[in-house]
Amino acid sequence: MKIGLIYNQISWEEKTIIEEAKKQGLEIKPLDCRKMSLKIQDGNAFSDIDLFLERSLSYTKGLYSTMVLESQGFKVINSAECQEICGNKLKTSATLYRSGIPQPKTYIAFSYESALKALEELGYPAIIKPLIGSWGRLVAILKDEQSAKAIIESREVLGSVFHKVYYLQEFIKSGRDIRAFVVGESVVAAMYRYLIPGDWRSNATIGAKAEACKVTPEIEDLALKTTTATRGEIVGVDMFENENQLLVNEVNHAPGFRHITLATGVNVAEKIINYLHRCK
Ligand SMILES: Nc1ncnc2c1ncn2[C@@H]1O[C@H](COP(=O)(O)OP(=O)(O)O)[C@@H](O)[C@H]1O
Ligand SMILES: [Mg+2]
Repeated sequence: MKIGLIYNQISWEEKTIIEEAKKQGLEIKPLDCRKMSLKIQDGNAFSDIDLFLERSLSYTKGLYSTMVLESQGFKVINSAECQEICGNKLKTSATLYRSGIPQPKTYIAFSYESALKALEELGYPAIIKPLIGSWGRLVAILKDEQSAKAIIESREVLGSVFHKVYYLQEFIKSGRDIRAFVVGESVVAAMYRYLIPGDWRSNATIGAKAEACKVTPEIEDLALKTTTATRGEIVGVDMFENENQLLVNEVNHAPGFRHITLATGVNVAEKIINYLHRCK
């Protein structure tokens, strides 16, 4: 079996996947999506590939290359459907709601006035997020009405069309969040990520401290339900602990696993390659 590994940047994760594949005798062909031009009508261009693993960190490059490959009959992990849901916070929230999965209270608003009205209902502090984005970029805390007005006004004036769709959320005060890493039908590892000192976010990519977290039945159940709802196969499910209840914050469809590997000692790359073997 030969795997096509689509990336737009070779980082620790891709190197580890390539090494692990070699160890397990799985042939792997790295494909830089920035160098790709896919002819829509040519389904034979990758006739040597049996399965694609999409690891592009760019939402658009990942999603659109997957759409073309799927139209040509290839299986891609994660699917375009999953990437479309997980890469857009509004789609994620709508999908979670439809599946009865708990999440923080969230509003969508389409103007300066309606955003402020939604915030009045949510109360301060509240969180504003871009629909598409990661690593905590442009996710902001709105401490009071004054800071909300300043941020929303700047998005109205300077933002793109997508920045003028306001995704507003209640602030969950917990000091840490949980990342559950799902491969296929199981949660292979979980970690806590603590707030960054001087910040209110816990993204590992911007320096949050990680620590192993026991995969409790509650975490496992919520992570697997969320994976099914979002059509995921290899995903990172992020949760908040809120008054004895877990809430799903977001799902990552090209999740990093360096921090979780180091924090838990679980060889996540090995689990991924084992899963790809099973996808034959
Ligand atoms: N509703 C919330 N309440 C408290 N903290 C939040 C909330 N939403 C996000 N955060 C913090 O901000 C970080 C980034 O937000 P997230 O929704 O995960 O966006 P991104 O896709 O950029 O990672 C999270 O890891 C978490 O620490
Ligand atoms: Mg996040």
